[in-house]
Amino acid sequence: MKNKSLVSINDFTKDEYLKILELAADFEKKPTQNILKDHVIATLFFEPSTRTRLSFETAVSRLSGKIVGFSDSSSTSTSKGETLRDSIRIVSNYSDLIVMRHPLEGSARLASEVASVPIVNAGDGANQHPTQTLLDMYSIWKTQGTLDNLNLFLVGDLKYGRTVHSLLMAMSKFNTTFYFIAPDELRMPDEYKLYLDTKGLKYIECKDFNEYIKEADIIYMTRVQQERFTDPIEYERVKNVYILQRSMLEGTRKNMKVLHPLPRVNEIARDVDESPQAYYFQQALNGVYTRQAIITYMLGIK
Ligand code: CP
Repeated sequence: MKNKSLVSINDFTKDEYLKILELAADFEKKPTQNILKDHVIATLFFEPSTRTRLSFETAVSRLSGKIVGFSDSSSTSTSKGETLRDSIRIVSNYSDLIVMRHPLEGSARLASEVASVPIVNAGDGANQHPTQTLLDMYSIWKTQGTLDNLNLFLVGDLKYGRTVHSLLMAMSKFNTTFYFIAPDELRMPDEYKLYLDTKGLKYIECKDFNEYIKEADIIYMTRVQQERFTDPIEYERVKNVYILQRSMLEGTRKNMKVLHPLPRVNEIARDVDESPQAYYFQQALNGVYTRQAIITYMLGIK
């Protein structure tokens, strides 16, 4: 599939998701290989990141590939007024694949239209974060043994949370029942509910976290993202609305796992970290194997 970009999670088919998960499992068994030694991967981060950038760079380094790029666009010619369009055309000349994070929705699509190499969207504003979704799916698959017929709780910032938007679209292919736990200000946007309606999938919206918690297979917590709010008073009103406490996990399903794309602020209490249900740190590690799978698949190496 050389030169196809990954901008939206819908750019991959269900079969491709499963192929990526199988490849990730292979890389988890053998993460250090020599298969990218002739490749240069660009990581262009116009917005802060810890996990996404470093796990991509670890993924490439462990496969003997080279990295070029930046984590702070103020040190690039963007600060002199160079357009994204021009920057992408230039970096296409230097690399075999570009991983890009940008604060503007639609920026990854624009980049894919001007690039001569595949673009991997590492997050574009509140829109999509497809590689996070694939590592989330790998984490769900590993912990549940299946992706089919699960009860998936999405909690917190469902309005601006790009990870939940991508995850909803992908998991809708596996007969998931969705539970949306959010305050009124951060409810799941109507377009995503309409998407589920057209597929005949069930979703439940509620504000009380405890009401359905015993039905959860996966609880996917999210941070209320201060950087997406234009009104600081609204952020203050909702920032602490859901805090998962260890006591809330009593009586939940044995298979249930807590996921979080991270970073967290205070939406998961620290004592949850030591519980058998906590899976978010392993989830972040799974990002290395999943991103090895994505890069090698997109370059046509695997
Ligand atoms: N999950 C995630 O995207 O984390 P970073 O913002 O640290 O990359």
